[in-house]
Amino acid sequence: MQAKITLLPGDGIGPEVVAEGVKVLQAVAARYGHTFEFTEALIGGSAIDTTGSPLPDETLAECRASDAVLLGAVGGPKWSDPRAAVRPEQGLLGLRGGLGLYANVRPVKVYPALVGASTLKPDVLAGVDMIILRELTGGLYFGVPQGQSGEKPNRSGVDTMAYTEGEVSRLMRLAFELARGRRKKVTSVDKANVLASSRLWRTVAHEVAAEYPDVEMEDILVDACSMHLIRRPADFDVIATENMFGDILSDEASMLVGSMGMLPSASLGAGKFGLYEPIHGSAPDIAGRGIANPLATILSCAMLLRWSLGLAAEADAVEAAVDAVLAAGYRCGDIRTPGCVLLGTVQMGDAVVKYLGGKSDAT
Ligand code: IPM
Ligand code: MG
Repeated sequence: MQAKITLLPGDGIGPEVVAEGVKVLQAVAARYGHTFEFTEALIGGSAIDTTGSPLPDETLAECRASDAVLLGAVGGPKWSDPRAAVRPEQGLLGLRGGLGLYANVRPVKVYPALVGASTLKPDVLAGVDMIILRELTGGLYFGVPQGQSGEKPNRSGVDTMAYTEGEVSRLMRLAFELARGRRKKVTSVDKANVLASSRLWRTVAHEVAAEYPDVEMEDILVDACSMHLIRRPADFDVIATENMFGDILSDEASMLVGSMGMLPSASLGAGKFGLYEPIHGSAPDIAGRGIANPLATILSCAMLLRWSLGLAAEADAVEAAVDAVLAAGYRCGDIRTPGCVLLGTVQMGDAVVKYLGGKSDAT
């Protein structure tokens, strides 16, 4: 097959991990006889520095003209002044909103080889395999009014958590569809005891649930969910939740796997087009040192192959290669455990490529 993939390396470790994702995609193309055409565009802080905008028009146009987008990370201390007129994160939100990518799929699966890398006890981690399905273009991130006003000492700031019935139902429908292909359980997370938008969420979630009688459904308040996530994480199958709740819960869930450097994500809309990105940030403290873990990006490439290009066997092969690399004891610094073989970013990408197709001769 032929596919056009737009690369948005972004800031910090973004370019380093995206380069390893491209390396793996190129290896997949060579092995399976596909042609992937890559184009690169600017986003985030590096786009602000070059063009003044965190999301130049050309970037959005490039993304719209492609089959899928692979993004690294945005942000960093250089652009984090709270009084700045433009921020790198606006680029990412503009991209999600502009491309209509309302559903963010964040799989959280514990690798047996990495149990020692988590701060949690092994018996709590046994069998953990869930998807956090995060609503991505509504809620607190996009509600209006939003902004600051007034003069010292009477300044104020406001954000709005708003949802429409349509926004909730399309996300919940995807949650139930995903659950049907898995363990058939959906946990809808809200704060319905306090928030009006959550009471709408809960009402609509139950209406959609009635269309899926074969799937079990439960509601959990977000504060309780944050507790159950580390007390009994193996009980969850598909967690569906509001934008900011999903942002927070997915960072927490990454600690089940051992590191943010292991969690991929797919942002999806109506069609097959998708934006794929690791859930981690730009990690400015380790940027440019060649030590960042590229596995979250490589696993995002597997999701890209599966969801946007329909290449399930190729996606399975990438995921199996990551499994094999970890089982063989190779680690980056974030998931290092005693006795492992420590690899840098480029070496880890090379190791995954060597294991693609079942090779067991990685160095
Ligand atoms: C994420 C990130 C982003 C978010 C930031 C960088 C805007 O934390 O993808 O989880 O909050 O959505
Ligand atoms: Mg986040």
